[in-house]
Amino acid sequence: EELIGRSNELRGKKVLINAGPTQEAIDPVRYITNHSSGKMGIALAEAAYQKGAEVELVLGPTHLRPKFKGINVKTIISADEMLIQMLELFDSSDIVIGAAAVADYKPDEIKSEKFKKKAKDWNLKLVKNPDILGVLGSKKTHQKVIGFALETQDEEINALTKLKAKNLDAIVLNSLKISGAGFSTDTNHVIMFFENGIKKEFPLNLKTQIANQIFDSILELY
Ligand code: CTP
Ligand code: CA
Repeated sequence: EELIGRSNELRGKKVLINAGPTQEAIDPVRYITNHSSGKMGIALAEAAYQKGAEVELVLGPTHLRPKFKGINVKTIISADEMLIQMLELFDSSDIVIGAAAVADYKPDEIKSEKFKKKAKDWNLKLVKNPDILGVLGSKKTHQKVIGFALETQDEEINALTKLKAKNLDAIVLNSLKISGAGFSTDTNHVIMFFENGIKKEFPLNLKTQIANQIFDSILELY
């Protein structure tokens, strides 16, 4: 199964992808997370593998796994753990894709005991998580770094602002306004913006097909 259908397009390239949500612990029984399924990032990892790349997938909490045993999966829980794994693999990577839905905030402390219900309301204090792609973008040397942008308004402006702020080579805009696109669907409709000003729209298609189109576009950067 694994030897059949692998092409040479990405042979010799190391591809690093993060995917899925992160979970930010509040206490031993509670956490903060989001609706990411990891499908798009896993589809990207599978597409890269089928194009002959060596693939590292840093995966947040999801029950989904890539279908090829040859993909190296590192599972993590929190954004801090995801950053550590990404930094460890970054220098040796050629193409880095941030497809993870990193939780933007985490509790200011993880309580070691279960927080007990009281008569009054609970004011949970949240602090910012590291911007993983921002950190990697600022450290990039030879790598091509590609991000995703999830927007519900001013989509194009916000995506372009993120492309610049995180020093990316390209950004893939996911709009929740487009039907058939979103967290647990098998399909997506995206627009890809490149650092050189080029814009490419990929109409509604299976996430597996969108993943191939994204890599075909990344290959054009070489
Ligand atoms: N990202 C990241 N680390 C974070 C937040 C986001 O690496 N702490 C990455 C995502 O994986 C994605 C890109 O940055 O590739 C944009 O994520 P998005 O949530 O759309 O943007 P944010 O920069 O978090 O801004 P906001 O959520 O406020 O729109
Ligand atoms: Ca965010």
